Amino acid sequence: MTQKFKVLVTRKWPKKVEEELQLNFETTLNESDTPLSENELIDAMQNYDALLPTVTDKISDTILSVANKKVKIVGNFGVGFNNIDIDSAKKNNLVVTNTPEVLTDCTADIAMLLMLGVARRGSEGEFHVRKKEWSGWRPTHMMGTKITGKTLGLIGMGRIAQAMAHKAHHGFKMKILFYDPYVKSENLSNLSATSCESIDELLSKSDFVSLHCPSTKETQGLINYETLKKMKESGYLINTARGDIVVESDLVKALKDNTIKGAGLDVYQKEPEVNEELLKLKNVFLLPHLGSATEETREAMGMRVLSNIQAFFNGDEPNDRVI
Ligand code: DGY
Repeated sequence: MTQKFKVLVTRKWPKKVEEELQLNFETTLNESDTPLSENELIDAMQNYDALLPTVTDKISDTILSVANKKVKIVGNFGVGFNNIDIDSAKKNNLVVTNTPEVLTDCTADIAMLLMLGVARRGSEGEFHVRKKEWSGWRPTHMMGTKITGKTLGLIGMGRIAQAMAHKAHHGFKMKILFYDPYVKSENLSNLSATSCESIDELLSKSDFVSLHCPSTKETQGLINYETLKKMKESGYLINTARGDIVVESDLVKALKDNTIKGAGLDVYQKEPEVNEELLKLKNVFLLPHLGSATEETREAMGMRVLSNIQAFFNGDEPNDRVI
């Protein structure tokens, strides 16, 4: 590349990726790792060739439609791109890319951790030990729920759900149910997965319900008090997808009145705020959006963004173009 295009990275990225970006582009990094304001993002649209945001940067129509734009490509660091107003990006003839595949296994691992953590009372147990409250082994101490052989219901059966199903089925002998209008059971024969006719059917038959659909107008608020009531009283909800798929206050109500037994959450409705009531509950296992947070995966995600923008500026089609 003879011309060095100007790129702006909105948050701190893994060192190796930042170095690679600096070698290939005129790169502005965010050393302090503080989120950019709307005005700073607008300014970036006017002064850079590529904007490289991440899933917590809200890239609104106001930002994308600013006059005298220079940015041609928005290379999102993350597989989800609900942080970007896609209709506005289309209207403004912008290319948008994401980072699929490389985070599949790590996100599925976190879903497994949430399932194990809540069912086996992981954080409760850990705090018990740390607070020196443990008085010793006894037959009825801190009993949880067995996972092996139980039924896991997946809402959305994309790559991450399939990876979780693989680990749960082959590692924990779980029966797999799923609801996804775009995926057929025949294509999942190695998982013996059964497709449900409706979400209600899945909710009523599963011991663990794990969410893997994107956040869209159709899925936002999908899990509310009414839908939670369709789950088994002994059931657990797992969410590694997006917080706004669940109405958090309804989940709190369902956890308090024993409509369901527990929940494992990695994502929240208003991140990084977490519902105060949720924080007080014992039957939840809560993580701070760690799905893809391993050194290997975060580096691979960054490299994926790099190769997407390199392809774009070379006049090729970026691999992970979403529009
Ligand atoms: C994504 O990439 O969408 C994840 O939520 C980040 O872990």
